[in-house]
Amino acid sequence: MQQEKKGLFISVEGGEGVGKTTNLEFIIDYLQKKAVPVVSTREPGGTPLSEEIRELLLKPRDENVSEVTELLMMFAARAQHLKQKILPALEGGDWVVCDRFTDATYAYQGGGRGMELNKIAVLENLVQGDLRPDRVILLDLPVEIGMDRAKKRGELDRFESQRIEFFQRVRSAYLQRAAQQPQAYRIIDASLTLDKVQQQIQIVLDDLISESQRI
Ligand code: TMP
Repeated sequence: MQQEKKGLFISVEGGEGVGKTTNLEFIIDYLQKKAVPVVSTREPGGTPLSEEIRELLLKPRDENVSEVTELLMMFAARAQHLKQKILPALEGGDWVVCDRFTDATYAYQGGGRGMELNKIAVLENLVQGDLRPDRVILLDLPVEIGMDRAKKRGELDRFESQRIEFFQRVRSAYLQRAAQQPQAYRIIDASLTLDKVQQQIQIVLDDLISESQRI
């Protein structure tokens, strides 16, 4: 898989209410201004079938969803998304900016739900081969602030309605992965003003643009 890849693959991660939507718009705009061909997408979702799986995953329901079911649905949506959208875009030389990817699985299903990380790794290898994001932009914010923002947006989905401890585990799992993979991760302090957050993001993007020009 990796050999044919030409574009760069960036994922944007973080807990609830960290400002992903606004900052994703900024990232896409900035790359377009720099004449980088870019495809913007999200997980779970990104293709018609994967978006249907997303609806099934997010819908609040009375039935208890088993952790393995949730994990398999995440990776089912991802397999379709990769085949139909991400890989063709990368192979065509586009950059792909994805609102969440497999690091979210390590944080939510691994950290949040407590699933064994090696089970996630098995599916990651099966579905992705050796494809991994070139850069993971992690928007980091204390959980209480993020949750307050998320609650103001209205009705909560199946993930947003988890208890605060769940999101504390999600945040720790992200920070732990960031510490283990300093070459891929860039941590952005999302508690600062929007201007300051975007200045930090701009540095990450400028670095990537110069790296891609050196290749
Ligand atoms: P969103 O709110 O960022 O659009 O993402 C939808 C929810 O799905 C969010 O609460 C995080 C969750 N999620 C996982 O639990 N595992 C995953 O692998 C992904 C991509 C998202």
